Amino acid sequence: MKDNAIDYDRYDHVRPIRWTGDALELLDQRVLPFTVVHEACRSSDEVAEAIRALTVRGAPAIGIAAAWGVVLAGHGLETGDPAEAARQLEPAMQRLNAARPTAVNLAWALARMRGALANAGADWREALEREARAIESEDLAANRAMGRAGAALIDAGSGVLTHCNTGSLATAGFGTALGVIRAGVADNRIERVFATETRPWNQGARLTVWELGQDGIDATLIADAAASHLMKTGQVQWVIVGADRICANGDTANKIGTYQLAIAAKHHGVKFMVVAPSSTVDMGTASGDAIEIEERDAAELLAFRGKRVVAEGVRAWNPVFDVTPHALIDAIVTERGVVLRPDADAMRALFGG
Ligand code: MRU
Repeated sequence: MKDNAIDYDRYDHVRPIRWTGDALELLDQRVLPFTVVHEACRSSDEVAEAIRALTVRGAPAIGIAAAWGVVLAGHGLETGDPAEAARQLEPAMQRLNAARPTAVNLAWALARMRGALANAGADWREALEREARAIESEDLAANRAMGRAGAALIDAGSGVLTHCNTGSLATAGFGTALGVIRAGVADNRIERVFATETRPWNQGARLTVWELGQDGIDATLIADAAASHLMKTGQVQWVIVGADRICANGDTANKIGTYQLAIAAKHHGVKFMVVAPSSTVDMGTASGDAIEIEERDAAELLAFRGKRVVAEGVRAWNPVFDVTPHALIDAIVTERGVVLRPDADAMRALFGG
């Protein structure tokens, strides 16, 4: 599939992150779809809080936001010495890194910013800004490449199911799994798109079907609990999801509920595709057992739109990611290439040691 087969003006409208020169404007994903408003962050700590609070979310998007957070932190420093700037910026970088634990893109983006500082001279502020801009534009290019590579795996006439939100809202634009779906629709391969609501935060219900609607892509929302039944009815041939961290053996952390979708897909002969840029690949983590799974406030489960819906005194456990074992994954699509039936050897062949 050629790049010019996709009309990006039609299939890519939403932008979650805007850099104004002295502020980072984040499309507030807590209040979508009924309120479309940007929140301005003017310090790295405001960016860290926006990441923690899910104002900005999605693995690539939080990496990009953190990179701009470092640029903001640099604005407050007097020094012309990049080594001294690196020393003074480190606490802000640590606070950005601590905002969320599971997506490796955060640490990856901060490592890139440290590298840019290490190679900079007295113009270190411009070097940081250039690096943040590069991280953002490389992500958009990666998503477009993955869209084409992933769509090529899908037969014409297919139905697909996606989980969480992996679209423009979660990235620099176009999206990962949602980029494959955009490309597959544009190329007339995908005829039916289903999205899970993705309890408890409802990324699918509030974000994914809204985002697809902006492009005029018809999508059907299902309750999370309807996924196995959907597969049994033969309406979907692929489950297509994003990732927050892909380990050296292909084990993949993604939004809670991904693992049970992979199990159900295997049972029903539905194929399972993970789509993520190489910034989500963590060859330093051997397997999914070593991934820290974020647990969020039980209130996300006990209340709905701020109103408690569960009896007082009830406890809840709210892990927000899970790990899908590589044996349940048919393809990992990255901008560097596609890993079919991923395992440690296949991952090493594409990503090295
Ligand atoms: O908690 P979230 O909404 O940040 O979780 C997002 C996901 O799990 C996405 O599937 C993943 O980050 C990939 S986004 C391209």
